Amino acid sequence: MKVNGRDYRTIWMDGPCVKTIEQRLIPHAFEIVTLADYAQTAEAIKTMVVRGAGAIGAAAGFGMAQVYLQAPDGAGRDAFVEEGYQTLRATRPTAQDLFFALDEIRAAADSARTLPEMRTAAVARANELADANAQACRRIGEFGAPLIADGATVLTHCNAGWLAFVDWGSALAPVYAAHRAGKKVRVLADETRPRCQGANLTAWELSQEGVPVEVIADNAAGLLMRRGQVQLVITGADRIAANGDAANKIGTYEKALCAKASGLPFYIAAPLSTFDLKCPNGDAIPIEERSADEVLYVYGRDDAGAFSRVRVAPQGVSARNPAFDVTPAELITGLITEKGIIAPNRAAIAKVLAK
Ligand code: MRU
Repeated sequence: MKVNGRDYRTIWMDGPCVKTIEQRLIPHAFEIVTLADYAQTAEAIKTMVVRGAGAIGAAAGFGMAQVYLQAPDGAGRDAFVEEGYQTLRATRPTAQDLFFALDEIRAAADSARTLPEMRTAAVARANELADANAQACRRIGEFGAPLIADGATVLTHCNAGWLAFVDWGSALAPVYAAHRAGKKVRVLADETRPRCQGANLTAWELSQEGVPVEVIADNAAGLLMRRGQVQLVITGADRIAANGDAANKIGTYEKALCAKASGLPFYIAAPLSTFDLKCPNGDAIPIEERSADEVLYVYGRDDAGAFSRVRVAPQGVSARNPAFDVTPAELITGLITEKGIIAPNRAAIAKVLAK
């Protein structure tokens, strides 16, 4: 997708390094960071330099390739690989794409015999997965675009655009496809407290692409749905259970309830790498608990250009900060995947994953 008119991917490999957009600075600054080894890549995932399920998955895949590039030959190799794998696994708990990518790279490397062959296989597979992620999202856009009528307003929560993947995005891919096809489409982007992915990332990337967008406070969504100012809700997902329950950024569940109450369609868009059949339902999906400070403070850039954080709760008060919630399958109209739009139920999910 475009930044200042130039095509970018969110993340890529450059020799032994991983390069990615520093998402914590957006929308205030656009910088590419270089991650020289797997420890730096793991830290970038953990500290949200890279964020969003698909981008986290690509980062994990590249990070695991770096593990093989750094591994010593001979004694100590297997222990080094195991240490790298576990370090990357421990970065963030909810996004299934992370675990999917790590296992894919390991399997690719395991099929080789010598360390040089393992390195080649790991890097090749990591690049393949990144390409497949971009391709899947493009297909999600093609399948989802017909859901958007000319003149429609789409509400989304968090950021499931191209910054959250390698390219195109999941929830925003249908919007981009509809926009490029000449439809008039506008987006209401929930601010998405506490980390404000909607205000920071979704609003920025839609603006870069020329799609009209307005940021709304998270609490405004219900009113605007009720008053007929939204025609469709599309969000992404961090993990989808075997029965169609879907984990996504905290607050998504409430948007699904509001959509149901207002008779609006509520779609989840995600590539098949986000599905986890090992979770029979949403209760089995691990939910990340993040620092209370994210709730107790707001972070941004002041009019003089300085970044700072400002406390919004009384000193001494504590906070809870679950980062994701689970929308039950019965509130989801359909799941937009790279193989088509499917019903959020066990049979349809099993069938599409078996294809
Ligand atoms: O910023 P994160 O990584 O905590 O947020 C994750 C997400 O981007 C969302 O939950 C998103 O809607 C899932 S789809 C990429």
